[in-house]
Amino acid sequence: MKSFFGPGAIAALLAAADIAAAQQTPFSISSTDDIKKTSATLAWDLLQYYKGNESGQTPGLLPGPPPAGPYYWWEAGAMFGTLIDYWFLTGDTTYNDLTIQGIQFQTGTDNDFQPRNETLSLGNDDQGFWGMTAMTAAEENFPNPPADKPGWLALAQAVFNTQASPERHDDTCGGGLRWQIPPTNKGYSYKNSIANGCFFNLGARLARYTGNTTYADWAEKTWNWWADVGFLDSETYAIYDGADVSNNCTKINKAEFSYNSAVWVLGAAYMYNYTKSDTWKTRVEKLVDHGLETFFPKGIAYEPTCEDWGTCSTDMLSFKGYLHRWYSTTTQIAPFTAEKILPVLKTSAAAAVKQCTGGDLGRQCGFKWDTFKYDGATGVGQEMDVLGAVSSLLIGSSKGPVTNSTGGTSVGNPNAGGNPNSFEVPVTPITAGDKVGASIVTIILVCSTVSILGWMSIGA
Ligand SMILES: *[C@@H]1O[C@H](CO)[C@@H](O)[C@H](O)[C@H]1NC(C)=O
Ligand SMILES: *[C@@H]1O[C@H](CO)[C@@H](O)[C@H](O)[C@H]1NC(C)=O
Ligand SMILES: *[C@@H]1O[C@H](CO)[C@@H](O)[C@H](O)[C@H]1NC(C)=O
Ligand SMILES: *[C@@H]1O[C@H](CO)[C@@H](O)[C@H](O)[C@H]1NC(C)=O
Ligand SMILES: *[C@@H]1O[C@H](CO)[C@@H](O)[C@H](O)[C@H]1NC(C)=O
Ligand SMILES: *[C@@H]1O[C@H](CO)[C@@H](O)[C@H](O)[C@H]1NC(C)=O
Repeated sequence: MKSFFGPGAIAALLAAADIAAAQQTPFSISSTDDIKKTSATLAWDLLQYYKGNESGQTPGLLPGPPPAGPYYWWEAGAMFGTLIDYWFLTGDTTYNDLTIQGIQFQTGTDNDFQPRNETLSLGNDDQGFWGMTAMTAAEENFPNPPADKPGWLALAQAVFNTQASPERHDDTCGGGLRWQIPPTNKGYSYKNSIANGCFFNLGARLARYTGNTTYADWAEKTWNWWADVGFLDSETYAIYDGADVSNNCTKINKAEFSYNSAVWVLGAAYMYNYTKSDTWKTRVEKLVDHGLETFFPKGIAYEPTCEDWGTCSTDMLSFKGYLHRWYSTTTQIAPFTAEKILPVLKTSAAAAVKQCTGGDLGRQCGFKWDTFKYDGATGVGQEMDVLGAVSSLLIGSSKGPVTNSTGGTSVGNPNAGGNPNSFEVPVTPITAGDKVGASIVTIILVCSTVSILGWMSIGA
């Protein structure tokens, strides 16, 4: 065959073809089988970051927190929630044992997700994410833990009860939860939409699961406070981030994040399902309309507050996954939203996989989905987002979340979480013989706390 091109030009063309091939995602979502296969590979890639099931490692933790690794404690809780949904939607049991072990190891001494190792990053939202993961396990009838371990429902109730305790609800700003739990944590003076959103979301879901109206009453009360204080824009239904108690929450930080939308939309959908009221229906509608417009501007998930500037934190890099998963469950629990939401989640998931061309395997995912090009950085958040988006495409063929009267088997305990301060290291009475040792321990504790707080402030 004769060629018009000289050898050099042919080499260049072949190289260009190679690049094009390398930039083609190996992932397809064009059939149920393809969606399952793609999800399985994404889950495997995600799990490469998790070492908690290896000997000598701590179950339930991702590498971190900074500076030991990029991930805070809560993100592992969020990852297990993603893996439970993955199992529920695909039927793949590969990661179930590792998930059960990881969650159960992190419940803390009082089985309320306040392990003492994590006090320095213990926010109501951090605890809340683990609680919502446990709730998901109950609703999806995830395999129950051994009988001597707390049930998924009991764990969710424990988180709820600690957060409903009077000492978490002071009068500043007229009520509501603070961001952080320990008063010494940086961020204790901030009240925000995510901490209150997790509590609201859990309350709504516990009400539907158990039929106990106390949970729904708390969800109502939380919504009312949150809307009144102005974290919900009464006109646009934008959800603002939060405000400091020092000026009674009058200076609102108006940043919008997709995880806030996701957590409130899903909670409102559960309240609608539980009450069947028009009030909740309208709230769901307005939140969804604003959420679709703001977080899917081109029909593709987008994080407006940080994405264009490349300033998304490690935490923020995981938000698109919750957005997809929880909007997706919303379509089951408030079916009237399906027509609006499902087509958008589909175009968004298609864009998500297109940019998964990075790394040595040529399939690592980045965070920027609307350019169809790998943005050069991957990690737990980026992989988890695409896994959430792709596996959620199977929502149509899954049965919705159960309740204790429609097949739910999780063991509950309405009185779990009786000690809201279980994260504190107990003070034991000091005997004469212990004194020298104790003061040395105190000095070590004080020094290490100060240095940890030092890096936290630098990092924030
Ligand atoms: C930990 O889990 C991963 C993912 O399932 C698996 O590949 C690995 O073999 C497990 N490690 C151990 C020590 O069980
Ligand atoms: C707490 O930290 C210690 C020391 O690193 C570790 O042995 C223990 O397993 C951790 N506990 C939890 C619940 O992570
Ligand atoms: C603080 O804010 C709450 C809620 O907006 C309001 O009810 C209360 O009156 C305010 N308190 C003061 C001292 O301004
Ligand atoms: C309903 O939930 C509340 C709050 O946790 C609890 O105090 C009460 O015992 C529960 N009622 C029943 C019947 O379980
Ligand atoms: C409540 O959720 C179930 C799915 O679990 C759904 O079948 C039902 O239609 C929902 N109820 C309402 C009022 O939308
Ligand atoms: C569901 O839980 C509620 C509250 O604990 C209880 O009253 C009811 O009997 C339970 N229903 C079933 C079917 O177990």
